[in-house]
Amino acid sequence: MPSSALISESGGLLWHAKALLRHRGLWSDFNNRVERFLSDWQVELEFGEGQRPDGLILLGPSGGWCLPTQGFLESFSEVIAVDPDPAARAIFQRRFRPKTQAAGDTPSSPKPTWVPSTFERVLPALLTRHSNHAVLFCNVLGQLRYQDEKSLERIEFELGQIKLMLAGRHWASFHDRISGETASADLHELEFFSAEPVTTQTLAKRVARTGEWLDHLTERVLPDHTPRRFMAWPISRERTHWIEAGWVGRQT
Ligand SMILES: C[S@@+](CC[C@H](N)C(=O)[O-])C[C@H]1O[C@@H](n2cnc3c(N)ncnc32)[C@H](O)[C@@H]1O
Repeated sequence: MPSSALISESGGLLWHAKALLRHRGLWSDFNNRVERFLSDWQVELEFGEGQRPDGLILLGPSGGWCLPTQGFLESFSEVIAVDPDPAARAIFQRRFRPKTQAAGDTPSSPKPTWVPSTFERVLPALLTRHSNHAVLFCNVLGQLRYQDEKSLERIEFELGQIKLMLAGRHWASFHDRISGETASADLHELEFFSAEPVTTQTLAKRVARTGEWLDHLTERVLPDHTPRRFMAWPISRERTHWIEAGWVGRQT
C-alpha cells in the first residue's frame, strides 16, 4: 500500500480522523443539506419518468462521512462503491452495517460491493455491466484537480466530458466548485438554488468577500439545463468549500 494513500488530503487516515471529529459537529449542517439533496433525488428516481434504477454506483464515498447512514442507500437493491483509499472500505462498512431488524422495520442498506480503484479505471466497465444502475459522484470530482501529471486545462476538459459517458442514465454529483479561507467568505446564505449554470466568477462574487479562492475546475460537470443547488461546507474552522449539487435524469 503506498504511504500516500494513508495520508492524502481527502483520503487516508488523517482524513478519516478529521472526519470522525467533524462529521457530527462542524459538518452537520452541510451533511443535512446533502441528505436533503439525496432524498429529493430519491423522490425523482421513484416517481419521475422512466424505469427506476436497480442499483447504485457510488464513486468516492470514502467512509461515507457526508452520506446519510439511513434512508437513502437502502432504497437500492445493489450498491457498488469505488474508492482507492485502502482505509475507506472498513470504515464505510462499519458506519453502514446492517442494524438488527425487527418485523416491520425499514430494510437496511445492502452491503456494498467494494472496488478499490479510481473511477476513471473502472466506470466504463461498470456502466456496461450494470445498464440500469444510477451513478452518484460523492464529493470526488472537485478532487481531480490535484493530478500532477496533467495540465489544469486537460483536467477541466476531462471533467466536462464525464456527462457524455453518462448520457441516458440517472446520475448525480455533489462536488467542490471553489474553496478559500472562511475569513474571506460571505456566509450570510449557506445554500441557494439556480435553474441554470453559475460561472465560477459569478459564484465567487456571490459567496466570497475577499481573498484568493481555488477553482476546482468543475464548472462544466453538470449539463447546462440541470437545476442545481450550492451549499457551504466548512471543511475546517479555517477553510470553506462551496459545493454544487445536481442530478440528471435518464431522458435528458
Ligand atoms: C472528499 S472525499 C469524499 C467524502 C465522502 N463523500 C464522504 O462522505 O466521506 C473524496 C474521496 O474520493 C476518493 N477519490 C479520490 N480520487 C478518486 C478517483 N479518481 N476515483 C474514485 N475515488 C476517488 C478519495 O479516496 C476520497 O475517499
